[in-house]
Amino acid sequence: MNERFAADWLSLREPADHAARSHPLLERLRGAWCSGREPLRIVDLGSGTGSNLRYLAPRLPAPQHWRLVDHDPELLGRVRPPATAGRLSLRTEQADLRDWELPATGTDLVTASALLDLVSADWLGRLVRACAGHGAAALLVLSYDGDVTWTVPDPGDAFVRAAVNAHQERDKGLGAALGPRATTEAATRFREAGYRVWIEPSPWHLDSGSLPLARQLIAGWINAAEEAFPEQAGTLRAWGARRLEDLRSGRTRLQVGHRDLLALPDAPR
Ligand SMILES: C[S@@+](CC[C@H](N)C(=O)[O-])C[C@H]1O[C@@H](n2cnc3c(N)ncnc32)[C@H](O)[C@@H]1O
Repeated sequence: MNERFAADWLSLREPADHAARSHPLLERLRGAWCSGREPLRIVDLGSGTGSNLRYLAPRLPAPQHWRLVDHDPELLGRVRPPATAGRLSLRTEQADLRDWELPATGTDLVTASALLDLVSADWLGRLVRACAGHGAAALLVLSYDGDVTWTVPDPGDAFVRAAVNAHQERDKGLGAALGPRATTEAATRFREAGYRVWIEPSPWHLDSGSLPLARQLIAGWINAAEEAFPEQAGTLRAWGARRLEDLRSGRTRLQVGHRDLLALPDAPR
């Protein structure tokens, strides 16, 4: 079943996402890949309302042409370009990524944020083959890696994390999801296709200043764990209330693991 993402959730996570992203990977992309490509032709998969566009466009050389692909027309209707980017054109495209193919005409960069953990091994294989077929670079960022660390632990943490990580591997619309294994699997596939690959951590750092995001995140975790363990509903809700209060009071901080991956084709243009 296709998973729907609320615009409110995406806007809540956008500042944490932007703060978490890897600078070294961006520098490598700018230096090694972007120079001399004008316009830079970029495809953003599972774009939502355009968070990835708003982060990347001001940081890449202009001019750029963006194509934003998502199956949710409501999210695409809310796409806003960044205020500070240079010359930029953009097009939104409503499509289900299950049957979507890279445009035959040139694409320099395929990018996606917070998408890779939702896709299956088969779908990833198709993506890698499409990138390789077009000689495109890939920047796949903010993929959940399964690591959840509280600075002060609670006896319920490990159970919730294990239940959430198992839930991450369910079918989210693109086949059984890779979940926390997504970046490692993508690195292997891109290397097999002759790419050079770099991975950097991009964790969220949450504390008493991140309560609205933490509240929704923890509520989502509890829902996921409850689906698998309905008999534990009371224990899970008590854990959630306790952990939110721990964050609010400053007793603990929370790190949620993500990874960014950059893959560059080895072949000359
Ligand atoms: C976690 S959200 C990330 C959105 C955006 N990239 C961001 O960073 O804010 C995942 C996005 O993938 C889209 N998506 C999920 N499955 C899809 C599919 N089968 N076809 C097209 N888009 C899909 C969702 O609509 C959603 O916008």
